[in-house]
Amino acid sequence: MAEIAVGIDLGTSNSCVATSRDGDVEVLPNAYGEATTASVVNLAADGSITVGNAAKANIIHDPKNTVYSAKRLIGRYFFSDEVKKAQAICSYEIVEAENHGVRIKVREELFSLAELSAMVLRELKSIAEARLGGSVTKAVITVPAYFNDNQRQATKDAGRIAGLEVLRILNEPTAAALAYGFGKGLNQRVAVYDLGGGTFDISVLEIGEDVFEVLATSGDTFLGGDDFDDRLIDLLADEFLASEKVNLRNDPYALEKLKLASESAKKQLSVDARAEIRIPDIATVADGSPRSIERVVTAEEFNALVMDLIMRSFKVCDEALQQAGIIARDLDGVILVGGPTRLPIVRDSVREYFQQDPKTDVDPDEVVAMGAAIHAASLVNQGGDAYLLDVTPLSLQIGVAGGLAEPVIERNTPVPIEQSRTFTTFKDHQEAVAIRVYQGESRETSENELLGQFEFSGFEKGRRGEVAIDVSFEIDTDGIVNVTARDRATGQAASTRITLSSGLSEGELQQIIDDGITDRVATSAETAQPVPLDEADADTAPETLEAPGPVPLTEDADTCEMKAYAQADIDALAIDTEAGGDLAALEEDLDVDALSDDADGLGSSIFDDDDALFDPAGEDLGADPEPSGGER
Ligand SMILES: Nc1ncnc2c1ncn2[C@@H]1O[C@H](COP(=O)(O)OP(=O)(O)OP(=O)(O)O)[C@@H](O)[C@H]1O
Ligand SMILES: [Mg+2]
Repeated sequence: MAEIAVGIDLGTSNSCVATSRDGDVEVLPNAYGEATTASVVNLAADGSITVGNAAKANIIHDPKNTVYSAKRLIGRYFFSDEVKKAQAICSYEIVEAENHGVRIKVREELFSLAELSAMVLRELKSIAEARLGGSVTKAVITVPAYFNDNQRQATKDAGRIAGLEVLRILNEPTAAALAYGFGKGLNQRVAVYDLGGGTFDISVLEIGEDVFEVLATSGDTFLGGDDFDDRLIDLLADEFLASEKVNLRNDPYALEKLKLASESAKKQLSVDARAEIRIPDIATVADGSPRSIERVVTAEEFNALVMDLIMRSFKVCDEALQQAGIIARDLDGVILVGGPTRLPIVRDSVREYFQQDPKTDVDPDEVVAMGAAIHAASLVNQGGDAYLLDVTPLSLQIGVAGGLAEPVIERNTPVPIEQSRTFTTFKDHQEAVAIRVYQGESRETSENELLGQFEFSGFEKGRRGEVAIDVSFEIDTDGIVNVTARDRATGQAASTRITLSSGLSEGELQQIIDDGITDRVATSAETAQPVPLDEADADTAPETLEAPGPVPLTEDADTCEMKAYAQADIDALAIDTEAGGDLAALEEDLDVDALSDDADGLGSSIFDDDDALFDPAGEDLGADPEPSGGER
């Protein structure tokens, strides 16, 4: 009997778990019979943790201790725009951790975003176990195609904390295409238009009998149904300010009420041409009397409020189609994913843009989890599986002089992929070299996402420029970046150490797992009667928790400190020899004094341009074979 492995759509607002057995794909509903469960976590005064719709109800009554939209913050640096935005609108406390990481402070306890996501995953695991009547330890978890390495790694960590072996991190649109086309013998080119709670993704895929190839993918992590709600909130708050002279935005309690009312009005507009908003006693005005909001919003009015958001999604579509080298008319189908795609204005706009009716036979809330379940089953069953060909959504770049970035792996390259570069030392008897790795499309390092600084040591020391270290940059099938180095003289693998990352170190992760944080989740499934889909299968379900292998990149990351980082500025310079690094030019260019100054200011920002770790593949060294390089 095959093992049970589930597919999990870990969403910003809602999550969904599904399983595929003997070709039957089934969404596993929660204890309340709902196909999706709110991705919301509430911490009670007694330390117990509630997840799901029961927790969501606490957003109004207990806003400080109720965490929602954690996915918007996972894998991000504290100084990122997304964190600033969340600080402005969320009632829970967002604080800075070591290495510019992010923690949520609830009732004096600090939680990483991976832990909070793990609590949601734990609830989904319990839902699946209650429905399947056995232990569930393996899962495929989906992420937006546009997630970078930090976000994917943190999601994988969340799975591990929840006691799940993450078989694969799968892109949401790829999962949707699998659910749509798997086993149907199709030969089509499709677009997956995924407008979720917090993110928008568009992917163009080629679907064959057993090959699902992503041709291009693009996205906007700042665009989703939450933004639609914000437009309604603004409308209501502005009107209230004008009529009652009270700014509801300054009252967290009123704001949460506005948010819930706006969201439900929006949902109403997916089935009706008008929605009634009623919020009794939302605030008290100057004379001490309570005031309510009562208003009708028409679809026409709502459409005008959100049209620019929808148009923004098409800009991203233009980009993806262009990268895939096709035009909208070349597509055989458009698959809709995500709650907001139920809105007529979204469907109509999509129809107009793609010049065809979008597919409506797949449920936009369940399709991603179903695809993940299909893939999970194929990974544990070995055989008969679809062959997935995914691409990396973001270019992998290395930092070079002058705050510039040099691509190593271009975006939309099929993964897994490995690219090698050779580096050498800058000083005699140098003991370590370091390279800063970024993901993103900008030529400026500061506009890309820093994945980490990789430091190599353990190679045979030599005179400057004589040591050759082959560094390979790999993006695996999970979209996770691995960096390895080999000393060419000895053939020995140099030890790789990540010295800067926003994620949890292996030590921290192990501590969290040992603490059994997710055991505190009072899962709703505990009170529900298990409803095994098939008693016989349930008996053979795996009972033991299997620990996954070591997580790449974060190993030994507990050593990452600003101090180590600044030291690396001085010691760990490397020259990319394959790109034509010129040692003499490098010496002229390199202001060693400036670097020393930087090391003295240990507290300085890691993004000070001047402190850029040196990779001399850049034009500053005349390494660029293209004459055009000089103007940058
Ligand atoms: N019937 C509906 N009409 C309009 N919007 C809806 C409807 N149902 C849900 N939504 C909205 O969909 C959004 C959540 O979408 P969904 O559950 O697909 O996102 P998610 O998967 O949690 O997020 P993401 O994919 O960004 O991680 C919310 O903004 C919610 O208000
Ligand atoms: Mg989603």
